[in-house]
Amino acid sequence: MNKRPCMEVLGTGRAVPEKILTNQDLEKMVDTSDEWILARTGIRQRHIAEPGVPLSFFAARAAREALADAGVAAEEIDLIILGTVTGDSKFPATACVVQDLIGASKAAAFDISAACSGFLYGLQLAESMMAIQGYRRILLIGGEILSSMVNWQDRDTCVLFGDGVGAVVLGPGQGACGILSTTIHSDGAFRDLLYSPGCGSLNPPSHENVDKMLHTIRMEGREVFRHAVTSMADALNQALDMAGVVVEDLDLLIPHQANLRIIEAVGKRFRLSPDKIYVNVDRFGNTSAASIPIALDEARKTGRIASGSLVGMVTFGAGFTWAAAVVRF
Ligand code: UT7
Repeated sequence: MNKRPCMEVLGTGRAVPEKILTNQDLEKMVDTSDEWILARTGIRQRHIAEPGVPLSFFAARAAREALADAGVAAEEIDLIILGTVTGDSKFPATACVVQDLIGASKAAAFDISAACSGFLYGLQLAESMMAIQGYRRILLIGGEILSSMVNWQDRDTCVLFGDGVGAVVLGPGQGACGILSTTIHSDGAFRDLLYSPGCGSLNPPSHENVDKMLHTIRMEGREVFRHAVTSMADALNQALDMAGVVVEDLDLLIPHQANLRIIEAVGKRFRLSPDKIYVNVDRFGNTSAASIPIALDEARKTGRIASGSLVGMVTFGAGFTWAAAVVRF
């Protein structure tokens, strides 16, 4: 018998910067082309924050939208978890800034660092904290301002990323709905394939380290691609098994939106028809921890997810980290 405590999604929200950077804009900045970007990644445009507008600004907007959707007041929130690698500053946690901005005065708040897996890591953490510690209303946010750490001269990476935030309000569930399974994984042996080496205790901020662009994103794209497909397939299989369902039962799969070719390769492994896979990478690019909650919010609000829908989510990112979940709405 499944003894998992029941936790469900009560509401969702998202916020992205207004400014859009198109592939044509990027053609004027680096040696690239709309054709290359579209063919290799599926990305047409990404939203980019104005310099100096911090993550907390968009996180608070997404959070307010999720609270309104859930019909939950900020004062009722007792825990805020924010998955990000691009917080407002090194400390305090950006979750604490969001707490103050939205007036969630009774919440405990902290950030987690799991890169593109931040949202699904947070989901498992939220479920455990609800089950063991008894939290009743949890605000889980995934958000990034990746434009703040992109090297705009590096065509290998600068075409890939975008900014944005997605948020969900979680609460105790009833009956057959709720989070049916979550699974999280990491392998730090691959940490140098996707990372930012600068501005931490390893390479503290200095003029020299900034001149070397150590604060920006480095990636061995081909290797990351290969691992992403295999690990996402493994994690999804595991989450399906844990939930006691098969892939054919899924009404929708929400994969991390890094590259359309990765999404299609995962879909192919499960013989999923394209209409069962949510794709918005063309409009947002790779928003790391925000990609799944932004897609989840869009899917709910456009009717792709309805009451009773069975939804799979799966991700892969720096660390390496990877994760999956199955949720009944
Ligand atoms: O979110 C976390 C997980 N991240 C990912 O999952 C990303 C995984 N990796 C990828 O999505 C892909 O590897 C990329 C989109 C990053 C690259 O696609 P690729 O098909 O693996 O291309 P590549 O790196 O093998 O490069 C192919 C060619 C190279 O030229 P040569 O050596 O064949 O002459 C690159 O220099 O494409 C060139 N290239 C570009 N050309 C035009 C690389 N970037 C660009 C560019 N515009 N922006």
